[in-house]
Formats: sequence, structure tokens, C-alpha cells
Amino acid sequence: MVDNSKQGIEIIGCKAIKRHQSVEKAQLEMDVARMYRDNSARQVSIISYEMVPQEDGSVLLEMPLLTGKSAMGTGDKSLMKNLVLDLAVFHEVFAQSPNSASVIYRDAIPSNYIISDNGGYTHVDFSSSQKYVHCLDDLALLTHPLWSKNTKSDAETLMEDYIAYRNEISSKNISRANELDAQIPRIDSNALLSYYIKTIKSMATEENGAKGLLERIKDVEFSHIQIEDFQFFFDFRTVRGQCYLKQWGK
Ligand SMILES: Nc1ncnc2c1ncn2[C@@H]1O[C@H](COP(=O)(O)OP(=O)(O)O)[C@@H](O)[C@H]1O
Ligand SMILES: [Mg+2]
Repeated sequence: MVDNSKQGIEIIGCKAIKRHQSVEKAQLEMDVARMYRDNSARQVSIISYEMVPQEDGSVLLEMPLLTGKSAMGTGDKSLMKNLVLDLAVFHEVFAQSPNSASVIYRDAIPSNYIISDNGGYTHVDFSSSQKYVHCLDDLALLTHPLWSKNTKSDAETLMEDYIAYRNEISSKNISRANELDAQIPRIDSNALLSYYIKTIKSMATEENGAKGLLERIKDVEFSHIQIEDFQFFFDFRTVRGQCYLKQWGK
């Protein structure tokens, strides 16, 4: 199981440090983490940040260095279920509208959760949150057998848990970041569809099945969640994951 962890951070003493190119980007990562932590549906443990501006205009985000290992490659089913419910909350907080399929990207790959020695875990890495994705894409990333010991059938069961929990919290009208904060970007469904088409085209080879995805994406619904769309995003994440593995030389 690949864990290319700690690429994006520098470790100095007992701190983990991440560099952002601008104050705005660093502020967005911190704001997203804070709004997620303060959600009214479910308690989540989020890494804490301190912002340290640099003379060249870049910004350092300093975090406490967590000692545990990441959830990459995990076979812990109860952990996986908790991560899926956490993700449902994240998506509901950062969705375009209640229960919308278009959500800010959590980048829910298991390496972005650090498990501590006492069995708890902490969410790290909100640096992809200026991007939008389809929520079932983020879910497929979290549950995909490439990054954990899940089988495909485990991933499908987790998808059902996700849908049920999102419906539950959506009916409770938890406060959503889009209504709270002007900094949170917005996107329309067509722009999201174009992003996926571009990404699929950039991955396509004769063998990897990406071309078939271009046909199938026409049926994907970006405004609301359809269970059937999970299969598309699972297959998208298979192709994308294999591209990453090639890039990482594995
Ligand atoms: N505070 C931290 N303590 C320990 N490990 C961390 C911490 N923050 C991140 N990591 C590990 O380092 C990896 C890279 O950091 P991350 O913030 O995810 O950067 P990137 O944006 O490059 O993915 C994470 O996936 C995680 O496994
Ligand atoms: Mg990361």
C-alpha cells in the first residue's frame, strides 16, 4: 500500500509546517478547517493551525506534529465507517445547497487522517478546498481499495451509509458555509462537468478505460446525488489512482 506521506509538509522540531503561496490560500485552508470543526452535527477532531506570514509574500501554516501514522492502507472497518460519516458532514457543510452533489473537495484520501496511539484520529490537509468535486468522487477516493483494505463491495456498503447519513443531516438543516462566508468559492454544474472531462482526457491511454468514462459522464447528475453515479466515480478513481501510482513510480 502506498503512503507517500509528508510530501506537502516540512517537519521542524515538534511542528509540521506547510507553505502557501498567498495569505488568501492559507486563510481559506484555515477557515474551511474551522467551519468544519464548528459544525452542529458531529464532533470532528481537526488539526490546529497558526499562520506565519513571510517576507516574500508566502505564508507558513504551522501545526503541531502528530505522532501517529496515517489511515493509508487501513483495514479498520469501524474507522472507515467513521471517516465516511465525517465526510458526509463535511460535504453537507460545504455543499452548494442542501444535499447537493457539488461540494468543496475534502481530498478524503486516507493519508489525510492521522491515527493516534489512543485510537483517536485527526483530520489534516484542507489545502484542496478551493476546488469543487462531485461528492461521490470524494467518497470513492476515501473508500477505494487502492488506498485501504476495502473490497469494492465494502465501498458500496459505505456509500449506502454515506447517503443515509447525508439525508439525515440534510433534513436537520445544519448551517452551510456558503451561506456563512463570502470567501467560500462557488461553481456551477457545467464548470464541474468540464473539469471532469478535461481530467479524463488528460489521463486517457489506449488501455486504461478512461475513454469509456467520457461516454458515461453524460449520465452523471451534478446538481443532486444519485446512487447510480457512485459506480462512475469508483471507476474514475481506479483510473486516476493508477495514474498516481505510475507517477509515484510504484
Ligand atoms: N500535523 C501533522 N502531523 C503529522 N503528519 C502530518 C501532519 N500534517 C500532515 N501530515 C502528513 O503529511 C502528509 C502531507 O501533508 P498534507 O497536509 O496532506 O499535504 P498535501 O497537501 O501535500 O497532501 C499528510 O497526508 C499526512 O499523512
Ligand atoms: Mg494530503
